[in-house]
Amino acid sequence: MLKRIKPGQARLGMFIEAIEGSWADHPFWRNQFRLDRAKDVERLKSSHATAVIIDTDKGVDVALPIAMTERSSPHPRENLSLKRALRTIEQSKPLITEMFENARIGGTIPVSHAAQAVEHIAACMQDSGKALIEVTRLKARDEYTFLHSIAVSGLVVHLARAVGLDEKMIRDLGMGGLLHDIGKMRVPLKVLNKSAPLNDVEMGQVRLHPSHGYQLLAKQGDVPRVVLDICLHHHERIDGSGYPNGLFDKQISIAVRITSICDVYDALTSARAYKKAWNPRDAARLMLEQEGQFDRRLLMQLFHSLRL
Ligand SMILES: [Fe+2]
Repeated sequence: MLKRIKPGQARLGMFIEAIEGSWADHPFWRNQFRLDRAKDVERLKSSHATAVIIDTDKGVDVALPIAMTERSSPHPRENLSLKRALRTIEQSKPLITEMFENARIGGTIPVSHAAQAVEHIAACMQDSGKALIEVTRLKARDEYTFLHSIAVSGLVVHLARAVGLDEKMIRDLGMGGLLHDIGKMRVPLKVLNKSAPLNDVEMGQVRLHPSHGYQLLAKQGDVPRVVLDICLHHHERIDGSGYPNGLFDKQISIAVRITSICDVYDALTSARAYKKAWNPRDAARLMLEQEGQFDRRLLMQLFHSLRL
């Protein structure tokens, strides 16, 4: 399991999945390694890294049982929320993984899995939403795709509820959040996993993923129209600068507007091989500064409801 800890909690035998902060803030040239030398533990403890993400399946845990938050003794209610969030991820993982793997090999996508996963996610968002969003921010490279899908689905459900959409629409939006990037399964892995900047050809391959996803889902025959809309258009932008169709303003549905905001917010607040995770407030500020990209009313509603 991934946990975010303070650098001061580092100890021998931990497996470091990621170090948050700029390269200048810590002395390690690589992010993923086991802390096997006392000297490295001390270097990490005394570094200016903002946080460290450890994988307790690959190394030892922190001395205290819970370190998902930076408080050493979380309220029992937070513990319950965290457990609920982790259970939701465990329940959803096989469902999402099978859909995405089938998309990769060109097989039939069991879309009913998405509906099942959305039930788990929507229920969790009602009482443990904050924990689910926090836990899914801790993504390792090999689990980025499915955790990003869960996070976007959860955020979309949260924002759709805040806006007051009906439950059927909320479920469809949640499904769209889960499946919005399924077309990435048709993009070559070496392009998807590349940490260096993409060249024009590779960028072109990535930019085809909305169309790939739409085609994959449309041929299933039982996918709600809202989900198809989200899949095809989640990279469209209000000012017409998005892709694949360069839709402008009112041409972009509310379902797509909600999903594109949640997609970018989760991507910004997650660590990747090539960038550190932004803290939620900085991500909110950046998105608000990007004039013409997002629906500002919905953006404000999301940030207000997340208490940023
Ligand atoms: Fe995408």
